[in-house]
Amino acid sequence: MNYRIALDGPSGAGKSTIAKRLSAELGFVYVDTGAMYRTIALYCLQNKVDISDETAVAAVLPDIDIELKYIDGEQRVLLNGTDVSKEIRINEVSMAASKTSAYKPVRAFLLDAQRNVAKTQSVIMDGRDIGTVVLPDAEIKIFLVAAAEERAKRRYKELLERGQNVPFEEVLQDIVQRDYNDEHRAESPLKQAEDAIRLDTSLLDFEQSYQAVLEIAKSKMAE
Ligand code: DC
Repeated sequence: MNYRIALDGPSGAGKSTIAKRLSAELGFVYVDTGAMYRTIALYCLQNKVDISDETAVAAVLPDIDIELKYIDGEQRVLLNGTDVSKEIRINEVSMAASKTSAYKPVRAFLLDAQRNVAKTQSVIMDGRDIGTVVLPDAEIKIFLVAAAEERAKRRYKELLERGQNVPFEEVLQDIVQRDYNDEHRAESPLKQAEDAIRLDTSLLDFEQSYQAVLEIAKSKMAE
């Protein structure tokens, strides 16, 4: 049987790192929906599309082709055939994606693609609305949270490791702003599904968070 694991939660809660490892351990396909939203935002920035203008953003969607590929176990994101895996992670793109992902046409554009990958294979999909909107019938739903300060600390460290020296206060402010955007938008806001298991990782390190998620997934699959 095919399983669908929906892993939702705010920015920086550790979803993607956990999802990557879990997909390798269980042999499931990993779908990073945030990367898809980021790619749309990057296209808009590269092509000087006004990201505050929903109609302008909607108009360029037909020009965007997104592919998630796995090369040597590493996820690569292709925008119209070009590898943009690195570019989509910069802070400017994070903030732009937080804006453009609120637009209904953008969400509709990605919804089918996301549902289609889960039709024929077991997946672990991470995002904000997977358990509520994209895969409401997912067998396993986990809502991963952590205090904003803690998430900011992790993101700050991650950015430093990538050579980006953004002040901590700015990282924290961006996280708080993105939480607000994600939770308050009209379309598919960030919200825990009623049947999701909530896991707070504020006091857990990565290994402990991972083991807790693995435990939940395994016990659900054994049911
Ligand atoms: O998870 P992330 O930080 O890579 O996501 C980038 C942006 O996309 C973030 O602002 C939230 C948005 N997003 C969304 O609205 N719905 C999803 N399923 C995944 C991400």
